[in-house]
Amino acid sequence: MEKYSYTESAALLARARKALAGGVSSEFRKYNHPHAIFYNHGEGSYIYDVDGNKYLDFTLSQGPLILGHSHPEVLKAVAEYSRQGQLFAGQHIKEIELAEKLQELISSAELIRFCLDGSTAVQTALRVARANTGRQKFLRFEGHYHGWLDNVSWGISASSAEAMGSREQPKVFPWTEGLPERARDEFIILPWNDLELVKKVVAERHKEIAAIITEPVMCNNSCILPAEGFLEGLREICDEYGIALIFDEVITGFRMSLGGAQQYFNVIPDLSIFAKAMGSGYPISAVVGKRKWMNLIQDARVIHAGTMNAGNPTVAAALATTSVLEAELPYERMFLYGQRLMDGLRQAAAAAGQKLLVQGPGPMFHMGFTHLDKVSDYRDSFNYDKAKLGKFIAGMHDRGVRVIGRGLWYISAVHTEEEIDTAIKAASEVMQTI
Ligand SMILES: Cc1ncc(COP(=O)(O)O)c(C=O)c1O
Repeated sequence: MEKYSYTESAALLARARKALAGGVSSEFRKYNHPHAIFYNHGEGSYIYDVDGNKYLDFTLSQGPLILGHSHPEVLKAVAEYSRQGQLFAGQHIKEIELAEKLQELISSAELIRFCLDGSTAVQTALRVARANTGRQKFLRFEGHYHGWLDNVSWGISASSAEAMGSREQPKVFPWTEGLPERARDEFIILPWNDLELVKKVVAERHKEIAAIITEPVMCNNSCILPAEGFLEGLREICDEYGIALIFDEVITGFRMSLGGAQQYFNVIPDLSIFAKAMGSGYPISAVVGKRKWMNLIQDARVIHAGTMNAGNPTVAAALATTSVLEAELPYERMFLYGQRLMDGLRQAAAAAGQKLLVQGPGPMFHMGFTHLDKVSDYRDSFNYDKAKLGKFIAGMHDRGVRVIGRGLWYISAVHTEEEIDTAIKAASEVMQTI
């Protein structure tokens, strides 16, 4: 095997660190192998770095690139519509077309607002829920990631499962310094997938709770599917107590199905957030919801704003992405290839005598080294051997297969069966070396 070299990236990182704090523009980008890497182009399933290394890409830039890198339809739409202008601080026709398209595709999308990213769209949904109910808190779940802003930067880091205290009254830890203490009072947190516990806590505290927010699949931690009846149960609880059910579909949106996880599981939330795959890497997200809830934005009682929202390039990118997805309907293939890759990884591990757990629906899935047969919530995930995963990811990277460091894989609509098998072959080699 010819070893990949990263000398140009290392030199650029040293230069970057003198101007960019930490050398990067998002914290997660630091954690690459062997350090932050500088890329110069991407096409289809592949991305290329400044050292001339080529990678078969399963990170899809943390999810957005559902059509792979540089999809020609997306680039064409962006170039054409950008020629007419970039941002009008006013309305344009394609914004309506995109909103109408989302109405058509997503069951709960009766009214829509566009934002730039998942983090701000989450906050918009929470504000709508608080305004409608007159209640202050939201209920959320351990290990679910809802962006990097103050009130959701808790419950996603802990030193151990024991440190998290009892399941009924979990302890939470700040993810970062600089959080205001009062942000801790905005939420109640519980382990995921435990409906009886949610029922009990909501029965006691429903007068405080404006919303229950959940990733419909816990993609950000071990890619855990909802337990049977869990999402349906949340729906019932929210109906019973007049609480907004919010699905954070930042990852599942346009990835589980054209109508998101809500269509896939047939559980319809009151509000939901779509982002990553919607815009093929251009900064666009959407808060969508039932009229009953979104009417407060319609009537300007809830303010949602943003100078850069719904500019020409981003709307054009989202329209092109949804139109390609609608025309090609790649979902069956993405599930199939995902399953093929998951099976391949399991077989590669078994052949090397490694205890590997691979779980998830297929279009995205997680792998980790553990003796457990199943991981059902964040607390279970402390059983993974992170050091071994680190060695595996590094070994794959050195063989030209790029996977997110925490073991999450994304399948795109342009990955081929041959590319899936290339990844399995690389995994078989790496499993023998770690
Ligand atoms: C489920 C979920 N919600 C919200 C976010 C935040 O989105 P963004 O990074 O676009 O702000 C993410 C990002 O990874 C996410 O995975």
